[in-house]
Amino acid sequence: MQKRSNLGWLRTRKSADEVVQDVAQTYSRRQKQANKREIIIKNEVQIAGIRKSCRLTRDILDAITPRIRPGITTEQINTWVHELTLANGAIPAPLNYRGYPKSVCTSINEVICHGIPSPDRVLREGDILNVDVTTILNGYYGDSSRMFLIGEVSPEARKLVEVTRECLELGIAQVKPGNRLGDIGYAIQKHAESHGYSVVRAFVGHGTGLYFHEAPDILHYGVPHTGVELVPGMVFTIEPMINIGTYEVRTLSDGWTAVTADGSLSAQWEHTVLVTGDGVEVLTA
Ligand code: MF3
Ligand code: CO
Ligand code: CO
Repeated sequence: MQKRSNLGWLRTRKSADEVVQDVAQTYSRRQKQANKREIIIKNEVQIAGIRKSCRLTRDILDAITPRIRPGITTEQINTWVHELTLANGAIPAPLNYRGYPKSVCTSINEVICHGIPSPDRVLREGDILNVDVTTILNGYYGDSSRMFLIGEVSPEARKLVEVTRECLELGIAQVKPGNRLGDIGYAIQKHAESHGYSVVRAFVGHGTGLYFHEAPDILHYGVPHTGVELVPGMVFTIEPMINIGTYEVRTLSDGWTAVTADGSLSAQWEHTVLVTGDGVEVLTA
């Protein structure tokens, strides 16, 4: 059924890449117009659409997982994600989003987020890598990222990756009606800091589903029982970025790549979640 609208695109005889660019630009325009910063409570139809998109996001991450190993380039990961997304009738949300040049973010070692895939960056034994996939399927967004250990990594790096994953899980465990956003942030911050790590402030999770980045901001630090109250139908990401050293960020001259100010390692895991009547559904799980 959804393919009907595709027929219009096909009649224009544009290449697949041109279609991707057009649609991505339309979405980013629409997002700017819709930047009312109001929390959009999703209805059942929207939830069904977002759930499908999130499952595709998960499936793409699953599909590339066994291919990620020393010797491949981050450009190769970009190509896999781009082609898997298109093959499933979806659009890679990052492409042309606010001028972002690629279809996925690949963030290695001291890169916190928004690393740009490149044919020059070969994965090396000991790297820790975040791959952040966001799909637009039938207009609905799914956003998730995972860490990958490249070959044998140092015990310090492995522990950071594990604790960051625990931070995400502890944050998710706070998602239920009546709890507040501060409960999520507090659970994450407490766990990270108990291991001597720091929580990045400059980037946050976000409402999502109908647009890439909706209200509210999801801070990965906070004070219990404060902030916006969670209600059924909210959809947002939790995506803690945890550093071994300082939480301060520096952006490289490409305008995107965010690195730790002190060069220390950084890790991130991300899921899109739905607040249900009595708890949480992890849509990208
Ligand atoms: N996927 C990222 C997030 O979790 C956003 C990437 S924006 C891009 O919000 F332009 F860099 F792709
Ligand atoms: Co996100
Ligand atoms: Co993401």
